Amino acid sequence: MSTTKIGLGLAALGRPDYINIRTKTEIDKSVSAFKANTIKVLDDSYQLGIRDFDVAPSYGLGEQFLLDWNISRQHKDVNLSTKFGYTYVANWEVGFSGKHEIKEHSIKKLNEQWDFSKALLPNLKIYQIHSATLESGVLSNTAVLNRLNELKQEHQLKIGLSSSGTEQVKIIEAARKINFEGLDLFDSYQVTFNIFEQSTFQILKALITEGKTVIIKEGLANGRVFQNDSFQSYSKAYNYLKTLSNTYNVGNDAIALRFIMDYLNPNLVLSGASDTHQLRQNLKALNFKLTTEEVNTLKSLAVNPEDYWQERSHLSWN
Ligand SMILES: NC(=O)c1ccc[n+]([C@@H]2O[C@H](COP(=O)([O-])OP(=O)(O)OC[C@H]3O[C@@H](n4cnc5c(N)ncnc54)[C@H](OP(=O)(O)O)[C@@H]3O)[C@@H](O)[C@H]2O)c1
Repeated sequence: MSTTKIGLGLAALGRPDYINIRTKTEIDKSVSAFKANTIKVLDDSYQLGIRDFDVAPSYGLGEQFLLDWNISRQHKDVNLSTKFGYTYVANWEVGFSGKHEIKEHSIKKLNEQWDFSKALLPNLKIYQIHSATLESGVLSNTAVLNRLNELKQEHQLKIGLSSSGTEQVKIIEAARKINFEGLDLFDSYQVTFNIFEQSTFQILKALITEGKTVIIKEGLANGRVFQNDSFQSYSKAYNYLKTLSNTYNVGNDAIALRFIMDYLNPNLVLSGASDTHQLRQNLKALNFKLTTEEVNTLKSLAVNPEDYWQERSHLSWN
């Protein structure tokens, strides 16, 4: 079995709308219902053995919910990670038509968001740049990098980044070069990798070999691993996933997560479950192992990264 653990990401839990292929229609989208659901999913996760939880200030009230849970439960063995760089601006308006989160990778935003996020200490273990890009200049912003290094020393944090888009490899390459007195600034990389988008495989393997923490996000391709008539180009993949899900008696989600474990073997794969039922389904990935031949067939289902990210940019917020 691989050594990969499953963690829980709060992107779908802390706000009424998120990028997905949502099929659930009858959802109570009040703040109180979302909070109750999030606390329940966090408690159930802990009970089911999850100890790693990922959030960001732009996940609506997700960071506040995680903070409330962390303070009230007082678990000593949980590892929390959060980020800086995006601000949630949809103000819990269901069906909000504008951009839901605004990017700002400035020192001002870092200081402002850290001021809230630091309340997650001492369980906060990883502090990340949210969706680092080359264009935002964040990887050459001396004020930001110095401050991150200060936080790292002061609080024994791992400093990380998350990445998305066709330039993930270039972003990771640029980040790997940043060091302070010969010591790498970045210890942790949260990257998109799944059956359809495998372009980061080699660099992630290199990071794992170097002892960096590699966290995989969007392992279910935002829900696109589930049979869906809107994505005809994945029909071959859906047929094969159906065969495997029959073989192992699990859903496509568990097959997709297991593929990441058996092929890449990262430190952590994030479940983006929006309720306990989905979480339990996702966790079935821990109970079986794919054969080499099955992994090889799943490897062959990768699509062109440009097409993958183009499609992702057109997914709607529901
Ligand atoms: N740039 C960044 O830093 C960044 C970007 C994305 C994600 N992340 C992190 O990675 C985590 C995971 O990524 P993600 O949630 O975006 O993507 P994901 O894991 O690829 O997809 C999650 C979606 O899959 C659906 N799902 C999961 N299990 C299911 C099941 N058993 N049956 C049916 N549908 C199921 C849910 O959709 P419904 O909600 O429609 O039910 C859920 O929203 C996030 O929570 C976040 O912590 C970080």
